[in-house]
Amino acid sequence: MYGDSASHDLRSALAAHHDVHMDNIVIGAGIDGLLGSLVRMTVTTGDTVVTSAGAYPTFNYHVNGFGGELVQVPFKNDMEDPDALINKAAETDAKLVYIANPDNPMGTCHSADVINDMINRVPDGCLLVLDEAYVEFAPEGTAPAMCVDDPRVIRMRTFSKAYGMAGARVGAAIGHKDLIANFAKVRDHFGMSRVSQAGALAALQDQTYLAQTQQNVVKSRDRISRIAHENGLTPITSATNFVTIDCGKSGDFARAVVAEMTTLGIFIRMPFVAPQDRCIRISAGTDADLDLFETALPKALSAARIKCP
Ligand SMILES: Cc1ncc(COP(=O)(O)O)c(C=O)c1O
Repeated sequence: MYGDSASHDLRSALAAHHDVHMDNIVIGAGIDGLLGSLVRMTVTTGDTVVTSAGAYPTFNYHVNGFGGELVQVPFKNDMEDPDALINKAAETDAKLVYIANPDNPMGTCHSADVINDMINRVPDGCLLVLDEAYVEFAPEGTAPAMCVDDPRVIRMRTFSKAYGMAGARVGAAIGHKDLIANFAKVRDHFGMSRVSQAGALAALQDQTYLAQTQQNVVKSRDRISRIAHENGLTPITSATNFVTIDCGKSGDFARAVVAEMTTLGIFIRMPFVAPQDRCIRISAGTDADLDLFETALPKALSAARIKCP
C-alpha cells in the first residue's frame, strides 16, 4: 500500500503538539522538499527572492531552478540580519524572504521578539519563510508563538535534526490554511512512505527521547567548545546541534584545517562565504566521536599552520 497521501495521523498529532488545526500543516520530504514545493507555488521567472549570503543553500537551488532572481544580504555579527532582509525584500518587491532561526552554518539565533518584529514588517505581496530546522536545540524564547491566522509567514519544521530521523525525510510546513491548501496543487501526494510517516509519529510521541537527545547535544556542544578553547580557538555560542568555531584566520586557513581533518578521517564542514568562512563547523557527536575529534584537531591545526601560515 502507498503511504497515506494526506499524512492524516501525523498531521493531527503535529496539530495537537503545536495547538493548531491540521489544515494549517502540510507534510513533505523534509524541509528541503517543502521548500521546493513552496518556491514552485510562489516564484516564477524573474521574481525576486531574498536570503542571506552564505545561508542554507538548498533554498537557493530551488529558487534558481524555478527561475527566481536571488538577492542576498550579508550576515551581521555572524547572525542573519532581519532588518537587512526585510529592507531588501521591500526594496526589491520580493515574493519570498528566507531566514533560518537558528541559523546554519553559524548556529546563532534571534529571539522570538526579533522574529515577531520581522513578521510584522513583511512587505505586502511577500511571504516570510521561517526555517526552524534546529529550533528544538535553541534556548526558550527563540520560537515565536504559533500564529497561523497570519498569512505573512510560513514555518518549517523537521524530524531530521532533534528527532534524529534525517534519512526518513519528514518535514512539516505550518501556516495559514489557504497557503497550506495551495501545496495540494504542486506537492508529490504519494511521496511520503508509510514507514517514514509511522516513524515520525512515533518519534513525536516520544518526547522523553527528544529531551534526552537535547541534553546529549548540550553536553556535546559544551565539550566541543572546551576543545576549541584548549586549542586557542573561539567557539560561537550555538543554538543548534553543531558548534561553529572561529579559527581567527583566513578562509584559506579554515579550508586547510577541514582538509587536514579529512586526511585524519574526520569529516567536518565549514561556511562557504567570507567572513564566516574563517570558521569550521563541528557536529555534536557521541563521546567516542569527540574523542577522535579532540585527538585530531591539534594535529590538523599544526599541519594547517605550516601550509597556510
Ligand atoms: C537550515 C536548514 N534547513 C533545512 C535543512 C534540511 O532539513 P530536512 O532534512 O528537513 O530537509 C537543513 C539541513 O541541514 C538546514 O540546515
